[in-house]
Order: sequence, then structure tokens, then C-alpha cells
Amino acid sequence: MKHLRVSCREAEAARHALERSGVLHSAYLPQREGDSVLWPLCGAADGDVVEREPRQCQRPAGDYRQQLPSTLRRLAPRGFDLLGHAAILRLSDEAEPHAILIAEALLASHGQLRTVALDSGVDGRWRVRALRVIAGEDDLVVHHRENGLRFEVDLRQVFFSPRLATERARIAALVRPGERFLDPFAGAAPFAVSAAAAGAQVLAADGNPAAQRWAERNSALNNLSSENFEFHIALAETLLPSLRDFDRVVLNHPTAHLNYLEPALAATRPGGSLHLYLLANRGEDATAETAAALVERGRVEAQRLVHPFSPGRELRVLDIRRGSS
Ligand SMILES: C[S@@+](CC[C@H](N)C(=O)[O-])C[C@H]1O[C@@H](n2cnc3c(N)ncnc32)[C@H](O)[C@@H]1O
Repeated sequence: MKHLRVSCREAEAARHALERSGVLHSAYLPQREGDSVLWPLCGAADGDVVEREPRQCQRPAGDYRQQLPSTLRRLAPRGFDLLGHAAILRLSDEAEPHAILIAEALLASHGQLRTVALDSGVDGRWRVRALRVIAGEDDLVVHHRENGLRFEVDLRQVFFSPRLATERARIAALVRPGERFLDPFAGAAPFAVSAAAAGAQVLAADGNPAAQRWAERNSALNNLSSENFEFHIALAETLLPSLRDFDRVVLNHPTAHLNYLEPALAATRPGGSLHLYLLANRGEDATAETAAALVERGRVEAQRLVHPFSPGRELRVLDIRRGSS
């Protein structure tokens, strides 16, 4: 790594100048060589620039942005998703040219991190995240712990979001032992495994063929048996019409929720619960459209924010009670 060599006398003035021009690499430490100080660089600088092995900061994890040049701190996101050894970052257009520097600061500040990937959002039929590893190891098979459970998933193959952890805990807390639980958009099965661990009899499915391996792995990791956890590769449009009398149904396909509301409600027993996830504009009531689609067959009992989704939109859940007919 390139360093700027200056005399000890000039060291402080040089540090200020490098910070002002945004080229001081604060993820690494300055080094002393005789009467000189070597400042680590993250960009071009005039003067006596020499090549040296960098010395990593041993500072404990805190706000990783402290390790960035001051000009970059306001561009780097405060939050990111942590999944086992991997951090998933979303960057603004302004920050994206500095992605590698931001990722290296993150790697340097969190001891358990081995991989940093840039997230361009979920896409395609199976809602898989578009990820590009920008620092560390090219390994996106993550081991994630949540609510006392263990999950393993290849983030390049199947949808998975740690931001749903609180929601999964909420649903698991509603489960009564022995209840019949259906998750037709299960992915790697985090909702389904959470419900089965809480005592439900679970039927889980997903159209993405890659989901099966991870759903079954997660069932095994949490010591579930085939008696209370079953997974199938199936399209919801094929599977749902043949199902009836589930006590609880989780409908987690927020970009197409209304397409599946009717068959999912038909699969719920009279008096049973349907949890419907959808994207709504911030500040707007999302119940009207759903209530209209339900006609007389169900009632929206509650509407909750799950997490912000984009500047103007948020992920919400509607808790729906099926009527008696
Ligand atoms: C938003 S993800 C939710 C996954 C999972 N419930 C979770 O919380 O991680 C939606 C899932 O629906 C699946 N999917 C999309 N269209 C489908 C369809 N027509 N039939 C079955 N699964 C489908 C995708 O593969 C994806 O795993």
C-alpha cells in the first residue's frame, strides 16, 4: 500500500492536508521509520510516496465510518445487513465510486467479517438479491443466528433478509403447539422453521428449486423432524388451490400479494389467521385495497410496519382473520 513519507516535524500538518484532500486511509495506522512518519494513502498525493505493508487498526468495532477519510464519512451508510461472516451494503449513487474503500473500512472494523458485498436489490422471479463481492472472500454461503435459531443460506441462490427477524419472532410467538402452519413462499424457510420450532405442524414450499436444499438444511440445523416440517418445490398457483384448513398462513410475496390472497384465504380455516406482507407508500393506509379484495371473507385485524423499504415505501404486514364462511 502507498504511504506518504514526511519528517516527524511535518507529520501533523501532513495529516491535516491529507484529510482535507480525502486521501488519508484511516482504516490503517501511520508507521514510524527513523525520523519519518508514513501516512497510509487511499488516493494520489504529492511528495515522497513509498510502498509499505499496511498496518491494520486494532480498534474495536464501533462506527466503521470513523476509519474513513472525513470527506467520505457522510456518504458511507451507517447501517448494513450482517449475516454471519458477510456484510451486505447498499450505496447511494454518490457513494458507489468509493465502494471498495467503504467496504475495506467495514472489514477492518468488524473482526468477524470476511466478506463485504454490494447489494443492488432483489430481482427476478425468485426475488434473489443481486450481490457483488467488493472486499474479502468471495463466499456468500452464510451462517446466521436469529432468535435462538440457526440458518444457513447461499445468498446468491435464495432470498433471505435478516430484517425480518423481529417479525419472525412475532409470528412464532403467536403459534399454538400443534397448529397447522402454511408458508407457500418459504425461500430458505426462516418463517417456517421458526414456526415449527415453536411447535407448529408446517407445510412449506417455494417455486425456486434452489430453496429446497437450504430449507431442509435449516430444518436439520434446528433439529426439526419430518413429522413437523415438510418442504416442497412448488408454484403457489399450483399448490394453494388443493389446500384447506390451515390455522395460520404466511403470505410473504410483497410484490405480488394480491394475486395470491384469494387462494391463500381459501387454504386458511374459518377463524384462522393470514399474515399478508405488502409494500405500501409511507403514511398511506394499506388496508383499503386489501379489504376490498377480501369482500366478506376476511377482516383486517391489524396493520404493522415491518421495516422501511426505500425512501418513500415500507414493508407492512396485515393480520387478517378469516370469516366463518
Ligand atoms: C420475499 S421472498 C420470501 C422468502 C421467505 N418467506 C423469507 O422470509 O425469507 C418471496 C419468495 O417467493 C418465492 N416465489 C416467487 N414466486 C413464486 C411462485 N409463483 N410460487 C412459489 N414461490 C414463489 C421466491 O422464490 C422467494 O423465495
